[in-house]
Amino acid sequence: EKGGYDYFMLKEIAEQPQAIADTLRGRLTEHGEISLDEVRLSDQDLRDIDKIFVIGCGTSYNAGLVGKYAIEHWTRIPVEVELASEFRYRDPVLDRSTLVIAISQSGETMDTIMALRHAKEQKARVLAVCNTNGSTIPRESDGVLYTHAGPEIAVASTKAFVTQIIAVYLVGLHLAQIRGIKYSDEVAAIVDQLKATPDAVAEVLTTMEPVRKLARDLSGSQQVLFLGRHVGFPVALEGALKLKELAYMHAEGFAAGELKHGPISLIDDGVPVVITVPSPRGRSLLHDKIVSNIQEVRARGARTIVIAEEGDHAVEPYADHIIRVPRTTTLLAPLTTVVPLQVLACEIAAARGNDVDQPRNLAKSVTVE
Ligand code: F6R
Repeated sequence: EKGGYDYFMLKEIAEQPQAIADTLRGRLTEHGEISLDEVRLSDQDLRDIDKIFVIGCGTSYNAGLVGKYAIEHWTRIPVEVELASEFRYRDPVLDRSTLVIAISQSGETMDTIMALRHAKEQKARVLAVCNTNGSTIPRESDGVLYTHAGPEIAVASTKAFVTQIIAVYLVGLHLAQIRGIKYSDEVAAIVDQLKATPDAVAEVLTTMEPVRKLARDLSGSQQVLFLGRHVGFPVALEGALKLKELAYMHAEGFAAGELKHGPISLIDDGVPVVITVPSPRGRSLLHDKIVSNIQEVRARGARTIVIAEEGDHAVEPYADHIIRVPRTTTLLAPLTTVVPLQVLACEIAAARGNDVDQPRNLAKSVTVE
């Protein structure tokens, strides 16, 4: 049952370290290689790939967006990420050297099924990333990489999301390794760091009490905005999606660089803005840019809720609230930074008296078009 938690969603949020560990298990060899024997696509097939499409809906689409940053960086293969419901009704350029990665927790989402059929008709190779054994999407794909999140009961996807990112990263790293890569040291380092992610997520989970308090505080707000850059951008989209579906509040995620192209008009006195901040080490330009975005929105009256690494003091002068996450590499940050956003949405919804596990108008598996 709910194992002592008030909602399945909280239980599933808490299961994320285990879900990640289970999804990594057996797929990282001792020599730092990625072993994806179960994928059923030969190394030769994968060497011939010259373009990748990632398709999915909702949270699965957001996981795909995160994947694009990593796969392009590691493999230099162009990646497009598209909503399955758009992909299936247009005329995308595909052929037998295109890899289509179809991401779906349930494996039964109708738009994703139709999109993968559309891709197969044009001879593309389809790889499913799926959490449900034997469901339609993996059955109809050329290969499958299962996420091992375990059953997800709450309608809002949480542990499936983080394991989808892990699975897509494993595909990217595998492609990088079999194709001979530009960033071999970096790839080797990432493989090591991946092993540490379950502990990092577990650490974030121990510090969620202030987030609960903050959630009660924000539950009367009209809207909440989310900002991020780089992989923080899809994390912002995911934070906003969770809040919309659970709290029935207006919430939007933006690429922080887009603020001045329109969204900044939404900022008014007291509007909560949640910002995920990339590591100050490494890509410091990215970090500095977002610190100035925090300054900008605060100068216009926003209440800033900043998710930043331990030891990142640069954000302190501009943050009304700081939620700390452990140090990570930029590309792995979504796994930790999404956790407070999940908890925030869950607790705001609960404070508003909503049914957290069964939000209105939504179904766990969307098998209609
Ligand atoms: C959001 C959510 C939905 C699903 C979407 C795709 O919390 O759960 O957006 O992510 O309906 O579902 P799957 O992954 O089963 O194809």
